[in-house]
Parts: sequence; C-alpha cells; structure tokens
Amino acid sequence: MSERTFSIIKPDAVRKGYTGAILAEIEKAGFKIIAVKRLSISKQQAEGFYHVHAARPFFSSLTTFMSSGPIFPLVLEKDNAIPDLRKLMGATNPANAEEGTIRKQYAGSIEENAIHGSDAAETAAFEIGYFFAGYELA
Ligand code: CMP
Repeated sequence: MSERTFSIIKPDAVRKGYTGAILAEIEKAGFKIIAVKRLSISKQQAEGFYHVHAARPFFSSLTTFMSSGPIFPLVLEKDNAIPDLRKLMGATNPANAEEGTIRKQYAGSIEENAIHGSDAAETAAFEIGYFFAGYELA
C-alpha cells in the first residue's frame, strides 16, 4: 500500500555537496518526492524534532550537529516507504552499512550519517507535521 515517510538530508551531506546524488538515489529507488525544502534549524528546533532521544548521551552533540548548517527535509511516497527508505539508507553507523546504501556511500560517522528516515508510521506523522504544513503536501 502506498505510504508516506519523512527524511532529512543532514548538514554533513549538504556541506559535502551530496544533496543531488542522494535525491537521485531516492528517486531511482522508486520514491516520489512529495515535498522538499532547504532550511537551517536552531538547536531548540532540533531538540523538538529529536525529543524521543532527549535522555541519550549524544543528544546535545546530535542537536548541535543538526543545527550546524542547512538541511533538506523531505516527504517521500511509495509502497512500503518507511521500511524501504530505511533499507536504502543502511545502518545508523556507516561502518555497519551494507554496500550500495546511502550511508555506506555518503556518511562519515554514526552521528554525521548523511540522512534520517522515520522508523514507524506514528513517527513519520509527527516528523512530517514538524516540518511541513498541510498545504505543502496537497
Ligand atoms: P537518525 O536516524 O537521525 O536518528 C537519531 C540520530 O542520532 C541518528 O540518526 C544519528 O545521527 C544519531 N546517533 C544515533 N546513535 C548515536 C551514537 N551512538 N552516537 C552519536 N550519534 C548517534
């Protein structure tokens, strides 16, 4: 069944000039890009996005990184979009990511790992709503 997921091309990948290459991988894998924008977020806005990780030891470092430069939030659609995007991204730590995955090709470390993808339908709904208004998804 057609499903929507949420993704972010993270500041490390944008800085390195990988935005176009990552978008091409996403389209080649059959995802329709429903919405995309480029923006920079504050540390406080990053904390709101990653609130589920607030107790983790890497929370402060992660939110500093995510507010360190422009990002590209995306809304993507295809059958099984949520699991399929996570497969295409590869493991959180690029050292463990399979050959051909986005993180294997474009990520530098477990934190600066090029791309985010929602892990479940409820998370996707929260994350899409955090960055996009209804009229941007019509
Ligand atoms: P993401 O899929 O965006 O979800 C949470 C993010 O936290 C993750 O990608 C990484 O960028 C980061 N992260 C997860 N685990 C660690 C870790 N052990 N150390 C530092 N950053 C991490």
